[in-house]
Amino acid sequence: MTDGFDTLLPAASLLGHRVDVLFLFVSILTGCVALAIAILLVVFTIRYRHGSKADRSNPPVRIRWLEVTWITVPLAIFLGIFGWSSLVFSQFHRPPRGAMQVHVLAKQWMWKIQHQNGRREIDELHIPLGRPVELIMTSQDVIHSFFVPEFRAKQDVLPGRYMSLWFTATRPGRFRLFCAEYCGTRHSGMHGQVIVMRPTEFAAWLAAGPARDELAARGFEIYRRMGCSGCHEPTSTVHAPDLIGLFGRTVHLADGTMVTADETYIRDSILLPRKQVVVGFDPVMPSFQGQLDEDDLTALIAYIKSRASPP
Ligand code: CUA
Repeated sequence: MTDGFDTLLPAASLLGHRVDVLFLFVSILTGCVALAIAILLVVFTIRYRHGSKADRSNPPVRIRWLEVTWITVPLAIFLGIFGWSSLVFSQFHRPPRGAMQVHVLAKQWMWKIQHQNGRREIDELHIPLGRPVELIMTSQDVIHSFFVPEFRAKQDVLPGRYMSLWFTATRPGRFRLFCAEYCGTRHSGMHGQVIVMRPTEFAAWLAAGPARDELAARGFEIYRRMGCSGCHEPTSTVHAPDLIGLFGRTVHLADGTMVTADETYIRDSILLPRKQVVVGFDPVMPSFQGQLDEDDLTALIAYIKSRASPP
């Protein structure tokens, strides 16, 4: 579709092609409108120039069909573009089930990547070809923006919450990763590479290298060390919400509202436990603000996710 349209880098992800089609459509449409206006401008300038013999008697005051047309047709086109682009936009934020999850921590001025098995990398992201990859991203300091032009994927990364973005790479190779939000003096140096490998090569890459403990296992260790298990284990005497099967569930809160137990909810529950108290429980949990760093939180969340279903 975009072959020969070489002002753009060729797309290298599934959704990237959809962005290109939309972009091409909007470019062609606005180009045609601009061209039509330019032609009419020239035609009318010549026809109605000073001193021309053009007929200026009885100018039409109202042409109803013309008015209706120029209101309804552009309205329909713009609403159509809105609907189309919203669909593409929302697809970028709804990862398919079974996507490979990778944690991304942005900080001044680097991208820290952590895979589920504990393998870490900096300013490089290795992913397998043809498999959906979901990034769960947060920032340690200011707002950054994760941008891979060839994937047509860009997402602001904010401190204090988790942003999700996913893509499926369609070509092996190396692709530039940029920070696309001014984040301080070395913002322009905050870039890296996404390395798309064939699945078998990727599996070998992931298994090799200095892997630390699996994320969820590290999370379990923190869960015990920080004393979470003292209250949250089903066998404990303290009355605290059960964490088994929590992730992804709808939680009813004391103020009558409901939330989905996603990464940000769990993070807030650990750092700001009074913010969203579960209905039927007393707000007795202490805050762990300042006692856990971003890596600890990532590991804890991975652990709670791993208990999404009873073993
Ligand atoms: Cu990080 Cu700009």
